[in-house]
Amino acid sequence: MHKILIGITGSISAYKALEVIRVFKKKGTDCTGCLTKDAQHFVTPLSVTTLSNNEVIADLFTPRKTPIHIDLQDVDLILVVPATYNIINKVSCGIADDALTTIISARKAPCVFAPSMNKEMWKNPILQENIKKLKSIGYYFIEPEKGALANLEIGKGRLPLPEKIVGFCEKILVSSKDLAGKRVLITAGRTEEDIDPVRYISNRSSGKMGYALAEAAQTRGAEATLISGIVSDTLTFSGNLIRVKTAKEMKNEVLKRVKNVDILIMSAAVADYTPLSPSISKVKKVGQGFSLALRQTDDILKAVRQKEKKLFIVGFALDTENLIENAKKKLKDKKLDLIIANDISTPGADECKLILIDKKGNIEKFPLVSKHEAAERVMNRLVGV
Ligand SMILES: Cc1cc2nc3c(=O)[nH]c(=O)nc-3n(C[C@H](O)[C@H](O)[C@H](O)COP(=O)(O)O)c2cc1C
Repeated sequence: MHKILIGITGSISAYKALEVIRVFKKKGTDCTGCLTKDAQHFVTPLSVTTLSNNEVIADLFTPRKTPIHIDLQDVDLILVVPATYNIINKVSCGIADDALTTIISARKAPCVFAPSMNKEMWKNPILQENIKKLKSIGYYFIEPEKGALANLEIGKGRLPLPEKIVGFCEKILVSSKDLAGKRVLITAGRTEEDIDPVRYISNRSSGKMGYALAEAAQTRGAEATLISGIVSDTLTFSGNLIRVKTAKEMKNEVLKRVKNVDILIMSAAVADYTPLSPSISKVKKVGQGFSLALRQTDDILKAVRQKEKKLFIVGFALDTENLIENAKKKLKDKKLDLIIANDISTPGADECKLILIDKKGNIEKFPLVSKHEAAERVMNRLVGV
């Protein structure tokens, strides 16, 4: 039985959360309600506790053996319905000043917002920027619908029907452990090849895609290991993380681990060339020009395929032109099972437009979505391989 937390905030549509609880209960889901202070102007803790047949959280400081935000870390999902303008903006700024925002700050489970508000609030660029930010770090949003709002104005901001909200959450709950038992090795970020002690050759890969893939694999029950090249300090991974700097280190770590995995996803941007003889002291500025001798780095994918004939390997292809053709060629040359073609505009961005091509030549084009959503869609393809 799934256990979910339903956060209710101070919106005129808060009464609809009671119906959401009823639909979940009918399906046998264990629901605990949590009301913000302002939600209690609209619905009472008594209604929520009665309908959920469970305790209700209405205050962070109610004395209890374990603080509520720690106690509730084992829920399978947090749904905030309705989600006000206020709570979305608060969470995106990392504010944790009441029971609901504190529980969200300490959560391990996926978090879904079902916004409901006046159409001008919905259009507010502060809110839209914060939604974009939250989506980029893995929060889910159920798009509000267009229709008659509380003041009878027509606009976007209406809460969808309870069944639609429950269906959205169920999809996340079902996919939540579908990679259990799988061992997935993911590489991410860029490598750096020393020219001298202060200079290096690298590329613009941010590592966001690889980290999103690793997090998605881990939250869906896989035993995920992430071999990370250089990335921004803000990226984190809760599973097994190995850091490397050079293409050679990346190759060594991958080859050391591939024997014990079911799926390898090579999303790291590994340098193709490295300085032939890096200088141990800083290269001085002499003369007008400067040329640097480079040698090719080892091809990690080829080396892995030679060693592991049956391993399911996913490669990435990034190109400025003929994206699909070049990706197909790479898929064939390196004997991959799946290749993900990535638009050149993607490095560093929070969103991407991926194209998946498999061995049979099937092509699946994803729309422009956050890298977290793209990672979930990639995981959908890996279930059952
Ligand atoms: C009658 C009334 C209805 C409201 N309805 C909404 C709403 O639908 N959506 C929303 O974002 N804010 C709404 N608000 C404003 C919020 O209640 C207010 O921003 C509050 O601080 C939200 O607190 P909370 O997010 O902690 O629950 C409403 C306020 C009033 C007085």
